[in-house]
Amino acid sequence: MDNRIDIILKTKGLVSGYGHTTILHGIDIGVPQAALTTVIGPNGAGKSTLFKALFGMLNIHAGSVTLYDEDITYLSPMQKLQHGIAYVPQGRNIFPELTVEHNLEFGGVSLRDLKETRRRMEKVMDQFPILRKRAKAQASTLSGGEQKMLEIGRALLLDPKLLLIDEPSIGLSPILMAEVFNLLLSLRDSGVTILMIEQNAKKALSISDYGIVLQQGRRALDGTASDVLHHPEIAHLFLGGMAKVEGAA
Ligand SMILES: Nc1ncnc2c1ncn2[C@@H]1O[C@H](COP(=O)(O)OP(=O)(O)OP(=O)(O)O)[C@@H](O)[C@H]1O
Ligand SMILES: [Mg+2]
Repeated sequence: MDNRIDIILKTKGLVSGYGHTTILHGIDIGVPQAALTTVIGPNGAGKSTLFKALFGMLNIHAGSVTLYDEDITYLSPMQKLQHGIAYVPQGRNIFPELTVEHNLEFGGVSLRDLKETRRRMEKVMDQFPILRKRAKAQASTLSGGEQKMLEIGRALLLDPKLLLIDEPSIGLSPILMAEVFNLLLSLRDSGVTILMIEQNAKKALSISDYGIVLQQGRRALDGTASDVLHHPEIAHLFLGGMAKVEGAA
């Protein structure tokens, strides 16, 4: 990655996995500030594992994670939240039986201040008018895209500097996908740094600033989204072949 760019989060030689199984074999990435960076890679490449490791949910076997210049490698998810990192996992993560409003409220639990939580909820509902409109509705009655927005809104309640978002467009129609991407772009424009995983590599890279390709738990490529999108091996990689892309950082 270009060293003139401000990097908010950096990993060096990050090794992690589940139990004794190593999935990430020494990952070096830099996440540029106030930009949208998309992580792509085949199924099982370790993309979600990388996010879980970044958010403090897995044991780190070696290497480091730094936020600005602070070592945050071994912080817990709660401590990561307090450092301004929010995480929206893959799949549906709302409480379907609760109202939209109550779902949002959960985002502020760690603030331990209901008044402040409510104030921030108002701000989030200004950003996401659909959540205000449906505030009293049961969350399960929202469309897939609206549910994703609820998850993102809930993550924003803590005013994160960095948003980790894993496959926000999964299961969404092209129209809803465009809505979610537009929302992420406006968040980026407001200064939030976003690291996103996307299966829909072409579409995601075409709206992103930077791209990172993971393959078998290793960084295969990174650079501007346009460089990654036009890299000769990328199409091959996503057609299921084994790419030979060596650290074209
Ligand atoms: N909880 C777990 N316990 C053990 N192994 C796991 C666990 N979760 C994932 N794995 C394994 O880790 C590897 C990487 O999985 P991961 O979910 O990070 O891939 P991914 O790149 O996000 O894939 P996808 O595009 O399908 O979401 C896979 O081999 C997977 O089987
Ligand atoms: Mg995944």
